[in-house]
Amino acid sequence: MIPIETERLLIRRMSEQDVEEFLEYQSHPEVMRYQPYEAATPERAAYFLRIQSTSEPSDEGAYLAFAVHHKEENRMIGEVSINVLPKSQSKGEIGWSFHTDFHGKGYATEAARALLAYGFSFLGLHRITTFCDVRNAPSIRLMERIGMRREGHALKSMLLRGTWQDTYLYALLREEWLQGSESENKDETFK
Ligand SMILES: CC(C)(COP(=O)(O)OP(=O)(O)OC[C@H]1O[C@@H](n2cnc3c(N)ncnc32)[C@H](O)[C@@H]1OP(=O)(O)O)[C@@H](O)C(=O)NCCC(=O)NCCS
Repeated sequence: MIPIETERLLIRRMSEQDVEEFLEYQSHPEVMRYQPYEAATPERAAYFLRIQSTSEPSDEGAYLAFAVHHKEENRMIGEVSINVLPKSQSKGEIGWSFHTDFHGKGYATEAARALLAYGFSFLGLHRITTFCDVRNAPSIRLMERIGMRREGHALKSMLLRGTWQDTYLYALLREEWLQGSESENKDETFK
């Protein structure tokens, strides 16, 4: 269940009040470098947050973006998201973006681990995937740090500002997650 509390963070629903902090990172060139969409504008951000504040995990094909809230700083520092693919398939695709001031401190790892627990334990997913531009080294390190496995190198598979780029596909199965080093009490988290 959301919110999820971790050592330093609160993973919570986004709200329309998050607009300023959302714009700070979703329009930052460094954060946008490998993202296949345009920098947010105030109008698009407000619309996105409005949709996010009402989306439910039970919605078919729901795309859920959660605010990552820094408890001590009392502010949103980024987001983690999960795209729940058709329910009958029990699969999800995850993603993340953080404000540059909060890179290199382990926050994305902390939030991504909580997101995996949410996907496997609360949503009961069978398989979680993610992909990124092969040049996106911090994101690749993050995927590997949380135990995801590289499954593929997809040539010219993402159109990034007019140029086709290669991507790596990473995946994790529920049984792999349960066997992982952090598996203790994992499945109890959301009961
Ligand atoms: C992808 C992204 C979220 C990764 O952020 P990050 O800051 O590298 O990841 P973390 O917050 O988990 O920090 C991990 C780093 O902090 C270091 N670190 C410092 N203090 C730490 C702590 N207390 N705990 C854990 N790690 C810590 C780790 O050693 C690691 O360093 P390394 O990557 O050099 O090995 C970030 O680069 C980003 O927002 N990029 C832009 C958006 C984007 O490209 N999204 C992905 C699209 S596919």
